[in-house]
Amino acid sequence: MRIEEVLKNCLNRLHDSRVKEAMSYSLLAGGKRIRPNLLYETLKGYGKQESCGDEYAAAIEMIHTYSLIHDDLPAMDNDDLRRGRPTCHKQFDEATAILAGDGLLTFAFETCAKAETPSDIKVRCIAMLARMAGADGMVHGQDLDMNESLCSDWNYLVDVHTYKTGCLLSIPLMIGACLCGQSEDIIEQWHSIGNMIGLAFQIQDDILDVQLTPEQFGKSNSDARNEKVTSVTLLGMDKAEKMMNDLYTQAEDAIRHLPEFDGTGLLNMVEQIRTRRI
Ligand code: IPE
Ligand code: IPE
Ligand code: MG
Ligand code: MG
Ligand code: MG
Repeated sequence: MRIEEVLKNCLNRLHDSRVKEAMSYSLLAGGKRIRPNLLYETLKGYGKQESCGDEYAAAIEMIHTYSLIHDDLPAMDNDDLRRGRPTCHKQFDEATAILAGDGLLTFAFETCAKAETPSDIKVRCIAMLARMAGADGMVHGQDLDMNESLCSDWNYLVDVHTYKTGCLLSIPLMIGACLCGQSEDIIEQWHSIGNMIGLAFQIQDDILDVQLTPEQFGKSNSDARNEKVTSVTLLGMDKAEKMMNDLYTQAEDAIRHLPEFDGTGLLNMVEQIRTRRI
């Protein structure tokens, strides 16, 4: 897969160190690479080369991986298994896992800054990435997730899912559109498509957390142990499955209606995500 080579090349630019070892351990552990591939499919749908998105695709996967390393820490979900291996803090130690997350987050922005994109577009992409990853984006979602016992209704959970998962699934679509010279209005339409996919994806993650064993899932299924409020606990399995399917269908319809965009590849990818079993 293209992104694997891109990520390896990025990591090669860092000096050898313990924190680099931990960053590589988690980053090259074989995730599904959904976010980078969403970016590549967006570029292809606009008729643009994948190569012009490499740095952004890598950066998004680095930020996603950092979010997983920190999400697994004892202070958060306290999990032992990720991407089929011991979690970063189990393989190394907590301090190293925190630093590996910090290292991936900062390296993501250095990587984007080095892209050979016209400066005005590059600055827009980096600003969007920072916003979607940070305290008004994914980090906000993780904060809501940790404090969900304060309030556990469906609207609250939609917010949690939209921020913690939707933001990092929207950003590859938004950056893809930005790199192809699309307007703010179209980028905002991609944001809302990403939110639909993100909400569906997190509902599905909650469903799979109940249905799969850790060996099948490649990660600890800790929602029950952590007494999490999830789509399944709030809606029940049948309604959660229907909601997930409806959202993927809505996202696909919206993709079909975008001007100047050939959705064939992206729609195939959304169907693969809908039927995923990990
Ligand atoms: C896991 O994301 C975190 C959620 C948002 C549910 P993925 O299911 O994309 O994880 P990897 O990248 O394949 O490990
Ligand atoms: C985490 O959601 C989403 C982020 C890491 C931003 P979960 O806690 O449900 O993700 P998993 O199940 O551990 O992958
Ligand atoms: Mg979590
Ligand atoms: Mg978790
Ligand atoms: Mg989960």
